[in-house]
Amino acid sequence: MEPVKIGLLGLGTVGGGTVSVLTRNAEEIARRAGRGIRISIAAAKEYNPDAIRGLDQIDRITDDAFEVVADPEVEIIIELIGGYSPARELVLMAIDNGKHVVTANKALIALHGNEIFAAAQAKGVTVAFEAAVAGGIPIIKAVREGLAANQIEWVAGIINGTGNFILTEMRDKGRDFSDVLKEAQRLGYAESDPAFDVEGIDAAHKLTILSSIAFGIPLQFDKVYIEGITKIEQQDVGYAGELGYRIKHLGITRRTDNGIELRVHPTLIPGRRLIAHVDGVMNAVLVKGDAVGPTLYYGAGAGSEPTASAVIADVVDIVRALTSDPENRVPHLAFQPNELSDVSILPMTEVETAYYLRMQAVDRPGVLAEVSRILGALNISIEAILQKEPVNGAIHVPVIFLTQRVKERYMNEAIRQIVNLDCIEGEVTRIRLESLL
Ligand code: HSE
Repeated sequence: MEPVKIGLLGLGTVGGGTVSVLTRNAEEIARRAGRGIRISIAAAKEYNPDAIRGLDQIDRITDDAFEVVADPEVEIIIELIGGYSPARELVLMAIDNGKHVVTANKALIALHGNEIFAAAQAKGVTVAFEAAVAGGIPIIKAVREGLAANQIEWVAGIINGTGNFILTEMRDKGRDFSDVLKEAQRLGYAESDPAFDVEGIDAAHKLTILSSIAFGIPLQFDKVYIEGITKIEQQDVGYAGELGYRIKHLGITRRTDNGIELRVHPTLIPGRRLIAHVDGVMNAVLVKGDAVGPTLYYGAGAGSEPTASAVIADVVDIVRALTSDPENRVPHLAFQPNELSDVSILPMTEVETAYYLRMQAVDRPGVLAEVSRILGALNISIEAILQKEPVNGAIHVPVIFLTQRVKERYMNEAIRQIVNLDCIEGEVTRIRLESLL
């Protein structure tokens, strides 16, 4: 049988890795897929030919991506150019031309996925996006297919490699934030706009997708509560450690009686949890199902060949299903399209979690009592207190409170009142805390 012809958009980090892995493992991939897979045309504005092994296996390289999606010979488009536009137009045009699509573009799926899947459904083609979440970890397949028996209770993941790399280096080596970020960019982990990594937007894109396939809801990026790692200080990393916790940037989505939580933010997690030891650029996703219990998926969340691994797995899935009827294929968002639920996303003020609070307090009797009185009046129970000795005769000392779970709106009010106390200097640093049980 003739090989399946692929049109590849983008020959950057992931595009190059995809060409290399498809070439290196061509024989085994064909044995798995049941057919050979050939990139017959690729589009790239610029690329480094010396960095890509197997480039000579591509029949033709053009700088016009629209030519690729219009090519009548091509059955599957791999979109690896990223960003919203022209990726959206190219993917919609490919679908309109009856082609299946594989994409690593989390931003595109998180923001335009509902439109894209509806178009694909109408045309009877597949849009696959394993590489969009947690790089090489097959988390989409695990949640969508492997856990199909379960009611998913919650998902919590370290889903931005750059952010995890920065937090790890800050903790282990006391390195400077911007210095570590530059290294992540050089290694090809960071987004083209690194603010997406450190401000939590990239993780929010990925969480949006995970939440949809976990709970069978439409993609709702605009409802995610997003906080990045830019305000995490070295001292918080240290105090968290003294209290038995590690700070990780987590994406968390949870089913509650009142709606679905959808939030990304730095989080204290107990140091004894396996996920607390996921360091460097590695990603990990914890999924709790009612039948299976907690399950943990770990691997490289970024980088050339790990992401290519997920891209090619999607291509293999599509090739295997080329002859099946569209209605017999795995649904894009795990649930049948007419079975998506309209359960609402909880506003952050209604989310319940525990907290780490750090404040600078005047070193005199009664100060802790004043803060405790505010917390007590709002029914916020204190779990632990840590007070550090004054440095070089300073009049302010750092005081850290760990609280039990409380709705965010009560904590907002507590912080408002604490900041107004005469004995408290400056802002209160708040980091949410999850036990992940
Ligand atoms: N910038 C992303 C990360 C790349 O650091 O995880 C993979 O999506």
